[in-house]
Amino acid sequence: MTSEKPRTLHDIPGWFFWPDQCTFRHFLGKEAVRSEGNLVELGTYLGRSAVLVGDYLQNGETFTALDLFGGSTDEHNKAENDGSYRNLTREAFEANYLALHDELPVIVQDLSSAIVDHVPPGSVRFMHIDASHLYEHVVVDIESARTLLAPGGVVAFDDFRSEHTPGVSAAVWEAVIGGGLRPIATTSLKMYCTFDEDVTPHRDALERAVPEYDELSTVMERYLGQDVLRVVRTEKPKPASKAPGVPDVLAKLGELEKQLTAADAGSAQLERLDQQGARLQQIERDLSQLQTLRQRLDDLEGYERAEAKHTRKQLAALREQVRDSGFSGRVMRRLRKR
Ligand SMILES: C[S@@+](CC[C@H](N)C(=O)[O-])C[C@H]1O[C@@H](n2cnc3c(N)ncnc32)[C@H](O)[C@@H]1O
Repeated sequence: MTSEKPRTLHDIPGWFFWPDQCTFRHFLGKEAVRSEGNLVELGTYLGRSAVLVGDYLQNGETFTALDLFGGSTDEHNKAENDGSYRNLTREAFEANYLALHDELPVIVQDLSSAIVDHVPPGSVRFMHIDASHLYEHVVVDIESARTLLAPGGVVAFDDFRSEHTPGVSAAVWEAVIGGGLRPIATTSLKMYCTFDEDVTPHRDALERAVPEYDELSTVMERYLGQDVLRVVRTEKPKPASKAPGVPDVLAKLGELEKQLTAADAGSAQLERLDQQGARLQQIERDLSQLQTLRQRLDDLEGYERAEAKHTRKQLAALREQVRDSGFSGRVMRRLRKR
C-alpha cells in the first residue's frame, strides 16, 4: 500500500491525528500515572498509531499488536472491513513498522477478542482499542481492557463519537454509565479512560502536559458527576492578511477626506470667482452708467458755463447801456450786485 518506505508515522495512511498523537505520548511517557507495563493495540491497519506506541516500549515490556489483516470474521465485521481496509496485508504493516523500528512487536493475526489469550491479565499500562467499530465487538474489547489493564493503566477508544460508529458510542457510554469505566479525557475522535477509582491524578497530569504541545489546549467538561478534560486543537495563528486592515482603511479614508476638502475648497473658490466676476460685471455696468452721467454732468456744466458767460456778456452790455443812459447810482449798484 505504501510504495515508499515511511520516514515518519505521517507517511503511513491512517486516522491518527495530532491531538491524539500528543495525548498518546503523554499516557505512554514518564509523566503518566503508570509508566511501566505492557502495551496493546487492537486494530493496527498499516501501523500509523502502532509505530508511535512502539516508540515508548521499554526493556522488559511487550507490545502486542493485533489485527485481522484480512482474516475471516462475521458478516457485519467483514462488510465493515471490506469497505475500509480491503487492501490491508500483514506484510504492509510489518514493512512500515520495520521502517521506523528495529524489531516488530508481538503480532497477533486474529479477532480482537483473542487478545486475552496473548497478554497477561493486569499487566497493561496502555491499550488502544481501534479494531471493529461494531457494538458487539467493542463490548468484548472493553471487557478485555478490564481484564488486561494494570492499576493506573489507561485505555483509549477510537471513534467513540463519530457519525458512522454509533456502536462504539453505545458500548463505551454503557460501560461508563454502568460498568466502572471512567473517562479521563476526550479528543474529537477518542475517549481516554481508566478503571481506576480515582481519575484525578490521570486528569491532572494530562492537564499539565497538554500546553507543552503545539496547538493544543484543554477545556474542562462536567458530566455524569465528574470532570473530564477535553483536549482541543487551537487555531494556528493566521498569517498577516493581505486584505487592508482597519488602520489602512482609516488612512485611505483620511486621504479621501483631504481630497474632498480640497475639491470643496476648489469649488468654493470657483463659486467665489463667479460671484466676483458677476460683481465685476456689475461694477463695469455701474461705471459705464457713471461715465454717461459724468458726461451729462460735463455737458450740463459746459452749458451752464456757456449760459453764465452769455449772461455776464449781457450784463456787461446792460451796464454799458445804463451808463450811457444816465441812470441813477442806486440802479447801478443793483446791477453790480447780480
Ligand atoms: C481503523 S483501523 C486501525 C487504524 C490504526 N489504529 C491507525 O490509527 O492507523 C481498524 C483495523 O481493525 C481491523 N479490524 C477490524 N475488525 C477487527 C476485529 N474484529 N478484530 C481485529 N481486528 C479488526 C481492521 O483490519 C483494521 O486494520
